[in-house]
Amino acid sequence: MISLITGGAQGIGFATAEHFIARGDKVCIFDRAGVAEAKEKLGPDVLAIEGDVTNQAEVDAAVALTIETFGGLDTLVTAAGIVTVEPALDVAPEAFMRMMNVNVLGSFLPAQSAARHMSENGGGSIVFIGSVYGSVGAPKRTAYCASKGAVHNMMQSLATEWGPLGIRVNALAPTGVRTPMVQNLIDNGLYNMTGVRNRTPLGRIAEPEEIAAAAVFLSSPGAAMVHGAVLPVDGGWIANGFTW
Ligand SMILES: NC(=O)c1ccc[n+]([C@@H]2O[C@H](COP(=O)([O-])OP(=O)(O)OC[C@H]3O[C@@H](n4cnc5c(N)ncnc54)[C@H](O)[C@@H]3O)[C@@H](O)[C@H]2O)c1
Repeated sequence: MISLITGGAQGIGFATAEHFIARGDKVCIFDRAGVAEAKEKLGPDVLAIEGDVTNQAEVDAAVALTIETFGGLDTLVTAAGIVTVEPALDVAPEAFMRMMNVNVLGSFLPAQSAARHMSENGGGSIVFIGSVYGSVGAPKRTAYCASKGAVHNMMQSLATEWGPLGIRVNALAPTGVRTPMVQNLIDNGLYNMTGVRNRTPLGRIAEPEEIAAAAVFLSSPGAAMVHGAVLPVDGGWIANGFTW
């Protein structure tokens, strides 16, 4: 299969690239930074493109180059994203809109571009990286939660439109994952690891490889009837309504 992964230079996107390569995919990673370093680790056969997911021309060019280089596009994973932690009373309109731009529009544009090809070439599979915060709220994460809720709902809408075109559309909803994004929050005292562990029946956050493994499943023939779904990869975090 031929796969394009946004945000593929690090974190969940990078782990997904590793897993897709291991199953034999031809892989393109698209990221605003770090693509050369990532390509060094992933191998010479990887197509590595620098660009911004909010820029339609750059996204379209990446999709076109992937198709030109490898001869098609079967799978898209949208793992590019940002997080902010800030009291809602302080969130500036620009910060809110940047979140929506990167996390929502930056998921939609690659999906639209990929779907234009997939719809005319036998279909495909799109996996959005949502979040447990697409389903529930959290203090100081208003813009992030709004963006992830939008990703989940957008995914469902696209599933209704693109299912008949042969394109399966799903989302993963990870809990905290040990990536540079979360390490940055930890380093700045903005991540309550004890609280997350206490709420999580499996007692820990996730590793990037565990999200990648779920992306492998969702984009595989074994998931042929899985469509319009939000799959939690959260050790039971969402399931647990118990309070301490
Ligand atoms: N880490 C977690 O705990 C966690 C939990 C749930 C959901 N997620 C989501 O998973 C996705 C990946 O998160 P991660 O933890 O791997 O983050 P990360 O910061 O480690 O990696 C994100 C990658 O996206 C790229 N990126 C950001 N903005 C971009 C843009 N405008 N254009 C192109 N590339 C851009 C970054 O350069 C980076 O390489 C995000 O959408 C995030 O919200 C993460």
